[in-house]
Amino acid sequence: MAELFTSTTIATIIASLILLLVPISCSSPFITDGSRDSPIPQSDIDLLEFPLNLEYLEAEFFLYGSMGQGLDNFAPNLTMGGPKPLGAKKANLDPYTRDVIKQFAWQEVGHLRAIKDTVQGFPRPLLDLSTKSFAKTMDAAFGKRLSPPFDPYASSLHYLIASYVIPYVGLTGYVGANPKLQAAASKRLVAGLLAVESGQDAVIRGLLYEYALIRLHPYGITVAEFTNRISDLRNKLGQEGIKDEGLVVPKKFGAEGQIRGNVLAGDEYSIGYARTPEEILRVVYGSGNESTPGGFYPKGADGRIAKSHLQHS
Ligand SMILES: *[C@@H]1O[C@H](CO)[C@@H](O)[C@H](O)[C@H]1NC(C)=O
Ligand SMILES: *[C@@H]1O[C@H](CO)[C@@H](O)[C@H](O)[C@H]1NC(C)=O
Repeated sequence: MAELFTSTTIATIIASLILLLVPISCSSPFITDGSRDSPIPQSDIDLLEFPLNLEYLEAEFFLYGSMGQGLDNFAPNLTMGGPKPLGAKKANLDPYTRDVIKQFAWQEVGHLRAIKDTVQGFPRPLLDLSTKSFAKTMDAAFGKRLSPPFDPYASSLHYLIASYVIPYVGLTGYVGANPKLQAAASKRLVAGLLAVESGQDAVIRGLLYEYALIRLHPYGITVAEFTNRISDLRNKLGQEGIKDEGLVVPKKFGAEGQIRGNVLAGDEYSIGYARTPEEILRVVYGSGNESTPGGFYPKGADGRIAKSHLQHS
């Protein structure tokens, strides 16, 4: 007991010291070198601004899902006046899932701030987070109408399946952006964002993996099949081969071709897949075409890269 008390006390002291140090050593690591007015080349700026599209979507989906309100309530400045998301609402989550999603929600707010402390960014684009929008994605994934329509907000399991649709796409975008970046501050930011997005994806997949063989009511379809179908759809829309894998795969796609369980997705070396902004737009627009907006972004994404594909539409 005495020992426990001592180590707890030491841990508390260390924790306090760390907290004291945070504002000094860690605040805005991206701007301390004066990068705001600065040596970040335009190509980096474009690549850093692009993921704001996804971070806005994640922030709103997780904030609404866990707390029933979004950026307009919790961080209005970050929206830069962009329109309110369509159809987002509080999900019917159990306390554990709600707690986890709330943490993700605040993390996304941090990600928005981190990107905007580095580059100017753009207002929140119009996001369609309605049940209808998710239902359409699921119907596309299964190649038929699910009845009743898939409702992401109906239960923890529904919400986690819907969430499977989200951080992973951001993750592949960060893997894709990283080798194209030039400034150290840009690379530091993207590596840091990638780390936490991957963590979120791992948590979501880990939670779902526990239920992989459970059949989602009333569809009678296993959680594993939902993930496999969603991943297949994303591969199809992205049009660049396999970059997405469900929770249970043919053995040849598992790690080292040895195992069917696939709690984390990775390529033949078990390293993360990369996607270009164009591939991501094809996926999140649900159109398979970076020039044809739709899906979660009815009016298209923002930033120079996305806009360059929208000019003539
Ligand atoms: C939000 O923006 C307003 C007006 O520019 C500013 O006065 C305020 O300090 C900002 N709030 C935060 C939390 O950044
Ligand atoms: C993508 O959409 C644009 C605008 O709608 C169209 O002009 C173009 O042909 C489409 N590309 C493909 C490959 O379908």
